[in-house]
Amino acid sequence: MIYFNNFNRFPDELLAEELFAIEKVIKSGNYILGPEVNLFENDWAALCGAKYAVGVGNGMDAIQIGLMALKIRAGDEVILPSITAFATVLSVINAGATPVFADINPQTALMSIESVKRCISKKTKALIVVHLYGQIKNMQDWIKLTTKSNLKLIEDCAQSHLAMEKNKYCGTFGVYGAFSFYPTKNLGAIGDAGIVLCDDKNLYDDIKMLRNYGQSERYFHPHLGLNSRLDELQAAVLNVKLKTLKAYNNRRKEIAKLYFKKIKNKKISLLSEPLDDKTHVYHLFVILCEDRNEFQSYLTRENIQTLIHYPLPLHFQEPCKSIRTDPNGLPFSELHARKCLSIPCNPQMSDNEVLHVIDIINSY
Ligand SMILES: Cc1ncc(COP(=O)(O)O)c(C=O)c1O
Repeated sequence: MIYFNNFNRFPDELLAEELFAIEKVIKSGNYILGPEVNLFENDWAALCGAKYAVGVGNGMDAIQIGLMALKIRAGDEVILPSITAFATVLSVINAGATPVFADINPQTALMSIESVKRCISKKTKALIVVHLYGQIKNMQDWIKLTTKSNLKLIEDCAQSHLAMEKNKYCGTFGVYGAFSFYPTKNLGAIGDAGIVLCDDKNLYDDIKMLRNYGQSERYFHPHLGLNSRLDELQAAVLNVKLKTLKAYNNRRKEIAKLYFKKIKNKKISLLSEPLDDKTHVYHLFVILCEDRNEFQSYLTRENIQTLIHYPLPLHFQEPCKSIRTDPNGLPFSELHARKCLSIPCNPQMSDNEVLHVIDIINSY
């Protein structure tokens, strides 16, 4: 079986280091917002080139807490793509704001700037640009649009750890960047974890309070916040695994290169290959197929595990059916959800496995 993710193939030395780090935390008695969280926040901010980082419970809370810190709330609209994780829209709803869905660009599955322009109203306060599948693109255009329209630019970087455009890392273009370290992400914890990056000291101070009940100092609460603190054990694991991220991203890129070069089947199309390979970290490698479900069953029979990101565009999800969309509709999101399939692209795959996946796809 060629698995989508291969956690049991992480090297033994890495596992030993993680276990040692976990034991150290347990023995320290320092379990909430301790030195491991501090270290990870400092290292992640420095690595990505941001001034500040705040560790939070998960990627969804990272987006929500940022919105709360920006005081985006009831009556305010936030535009986001209809092809993304449900967490992206849920974070907006949980912040009390009103989501609006924009369509995607069919070549990349990233949010379309033209569609966003059609969605902007007097109530729009922010856009969430999701660096879907690991790709970052056209950030100067997003900055231009948000500056001109006086909107906040928010980056959902859950899938794009260390993707960069023009030598600047994702998460540092907007007012804040929200990251998830869900176990399957390019850098994954062994449970839930997330972080917010920002450059503004006031925003940073507010985000720090909001993750911790809105507390400024012990038992003083100027705000209504959440309990969403990055866990010390998760931070300890992330501190160990952080060392592997660049090499693992590079391996993902090698696999993607092989896929782009060698997948040749008239029934299959690929999303566009980026010109600059720094702009894509291949959290997912997504291909398109007209008869996707049949194709997926074929791959399953051939012992190749696949997933669909995402089978339903958000505007078709039951609780989202009344959410306003691009007045032209969301045809590309709907088409993408019908055709997309994510094939294995994890750094633990061997070359032989990658070539086998290609052979099986080409002989469909
Ligand atoms: C694009 C995107 N945004 C947000 C999230 C939410 O992250 P988490 O699962 O850590 O809450 C995810 C992860 O599933 C994601 O892929």
